[in-house]
Amino acid sequence: MSSQSSADPLSVLPVSEGGTDPAAAPLLQIRGVSRTFRSVDRKVLDDVDLDVAAGEFVSLIGPSGCGKTTLLRIVAGLLSATTGSVSLGGSPSDAPSRDKAMVFQHFNLFPWRTALANAAYGLELQGVGKRERNERALEYLRLFGLEEFAGQYPGELSGGMRQRIGIARALAIEPKVLLMDEPFGALDALTRERLQIELLRICETTHLSVVFVTHSIDEAIFLSDRIVVMGTHPGRVVETFDVDLRRPRWTYDMRAEPSYARIRARVWELLDHEMSGHGGAPG
Ligand SMILES: Nc1ncnc2c1ncn2[C@@H]1O[C@H](COP(=O)(O)OP(=O)(O)O)[C@@H](O)[C@H]1O
Ligand SMILES: [Mg+2]
Repeated sequence: MSSQSSADPLSVLPVSEGGTDPAAAPLLQIRGVSRTFRSVDRKVLDDVDLDVAAGEFVSLIGPSGCGKTTLLRIVAGLLSATTGSVSLGGSPSDAPSRDKAMVFQHFNLFPWRTALANAAYGLELQGVGKRERNERALEYLRLFGLEEFAGQYPGELSGGMRQRIGIARALAIEPKVLLMDEPFGALDALTRERLQIELLRICETTHLSVVFVTHSIDEAIFLSDRIVVMGTHPGRVVETFDVDLRRPRWTYDMRAEPSYARIRARVWELLDHEMSGHGGAPG
């Protein structure tokens, strides 16, 4: 660990006043979103409504194939909805924009680019000059303790480091909404826990909104203000839960709290129902 830098690495983040205001208009509004893939003649998402407030952390959890990735891609503007709409800050948002950044499970780094050039990639797409984008990308690598690896290539780095670079790249463009598709799914348990805490610290400082896809109920509870359980055939929202556990959640034994057990049991029950083929309409 580098000890030269005495400044708090989090100080690079755009700071925002904390606290979500439930009365405020939601930052992200997903309204009646459906998606049919004509090639397979199948509706994979049906009439999804979801609001996400500024600074809110929302997790999507559901069986494989229920359309989580499809929904994130529609929100990111990488895929169009068959019906319905996505808006951000009150304006239609159906194309990629600098306010939305996506983090993928499989890192999606360019193997021929250094850590720094990967972290700077989003800024490069925005036309930010080389000097400025490298400075900013380096600040975000520093946030994850990776500045000394800036010159190395992804193939020389661990999975945890690669995913930190993927997140640094997304954060460097200073989006309003971070869309994360099972970002920690390929990591070992310990690295995953550390990254969860690093992510929450960043969210607390920046007041960033996050839509986070996971297969882990515990991860969803640890991270989220709200959990959206999805089901299949067709992909849809089954139920939404508020997670009323106090933050920061790494400072106490969250699992000993009665509401932890209650939320976990209910999410488990819904997923079990969906995965045993009882959920949704036939075929
Ligand atoms: N481009 C595509 N063409 C046809 N079917 C697709 C396409 N993309 C995804 N699907 C199908 O849509 C369903 C939902 O996929 P996906 O959003 O990846 O689910 P999840 O991320 O929840 O596992 C799956 O059955 C998948 O096979
Ligand atoms: Mg997926």
